[in-house]
Amino acid sequence: MTNLRAVKGMNDVLPAEIGRWHRVEEAFARTMTLYGYREVRTPLVEPTPLFVRTVGETTDIVEKEMYSFEHRGEALTLRPEGTAGAARAYVEHNVHGVEPVTKWWYRGAMFRAERPQRGRYRQFYQLGAEHLGDPGPGADAEMIDMLVSFLGAIGVRDARVLVNSLGSGESRAAYRAALAAYLEGKRGALSEDSQRRLSTNPLRILDSKDPRDQEAVRGAPGLHEHLTDADREHFRLLRAHLDELGTPYTVDERLVRGLDYYTRTLFEMKGATDKLGAGDTLLGGGRYDTMVRDLGGPDVPAIGFAAGLERLVIASDVEVRASATDAYVAPLGAAGVGVALVLGRDLRRQGVRAEVDARGSSLKAQLRRANALGARIALILGDEELAAGAVQLKDLDARTQETLPREQAVRVVADRLRGGRVEST
Ligand code: HAM
Repeated sequence: MTNLRAVKGMNDVLPAEIGRWHRVEEAFARTMTLYGYREVRTPLVEPTPLFVRTVGETTDIVEKEMYSFEHRGEALTLRPEGTAGAARAYVEHNVHGVEPVTKWWYRGAMFRAERPQRGRYRQFYQLGAEHLGDPGPGADAEMIDMLVSFLGAIGVRDARVLVNSLGSGESRAAYRAALAAYLEGKRGALSEDSQRRLSTNPLRILDSKDPRDQEAVRGAPGLHEHLTDADREHFRLLRAHLDELGTPYTVDERLVRGLDYYTRTLFEMKGATDKLGAGDTLLGGGRYDTMVRDLGGPDVPAIGFAAGLERLVIASDVEVRASATDAYVAPLGAAGVGVALVLGRDLRRQGVRAEVDARGSSLKAQLRRANALGARIALILGDEELAAGAVQLKDLDARTQETLPREQAVRVVADRLRGGRVEST
């Protein structure tokens, strides 16, 4: 029988790696709290039409990457991203009726049937946030600046910020027509996919990785020439605010991103290219001023972003010293196991992380394991200690050892750990 393996593109994260994940997640949660975001949890499964209507029928995600299935007559999809579900929940729970501005953050698994490579998976985790009820551009600038600080906090030193404005529906329609007319003249030079996109979604051709398409769009009209005055002013103010904040950025007029719901502000941040190669987009986001209305809610503007957690973990340069326990209780024979279990429990009651080794292995093997787990203290229970009602305390950091009456052991260990290193994974 062949062994069962994880589904292609879906990964296990083993405890040896989880410390790095926690550092990133904790830094993110701290940032979110500082900026007034509250956590929201929405389902992993949503009705398929939610994504078709928001992400867009002709996007790569909806056309070929969704895990969709029918269950008891309902068309369902494993969420490929978090914004649509958050907006659905916002409308469904009438949140706009309770508060004028809503700031939500989330973390969780997303699913896209993409071709797996480093930093690109079929199940991946996103850290994201949605800010509803503020038309910007102040909110937009603050979000971008917040994300630059966050990337700095997790040790991504070379983050590059790209911004663009897609304009509102009116600007986009004008640009779409101009771009389609231009590319129609080059139809034969486009990839097969893009020839099809010409009638369905010409903006996506700007985003194509195919060299034929990249060559064809080189002389294409610029998006910004087609922005309305109001859109142009919105984008000017965004840049002015970023300048006031001292946030470095580059305007990339070709930045379109792979989701159809965007309006006006768009941004991406790239970094750690040495580690991530071509998949170095750490996060992306933008404004989606019409989604709430499109989902049957009121006219509420919104902006948000999501970051790929795996990519952040790879990019993050923060050193993590993981320790799984503080105190290691080592009975040297079966006779000491009962006493060891009691000591272990009493240490935990004092908030001390403790590990009891009840395997009855040798002192050497037990100390090796204590070190491997990153314990600072070992409590050894040999025959002599048991007979005397004592315990031997070995400070593995300070390399000292002493014998204590057993009833003092918990207090001494707790005090010593409190005064010294505090570790958590
Ligand atoms: P997105 O650009 O599709 O935007 O994804 C955001 C980030 O998720 C990407 O920059 C990347 O870091 C990560 N990511 C995407 N696909 C994969 C994958 N297959 N494997 C690993 N990481 C991946 C969104 O999802 C929007 N919902 C962002 C947003 C929120 N816009 C407004 N609000």
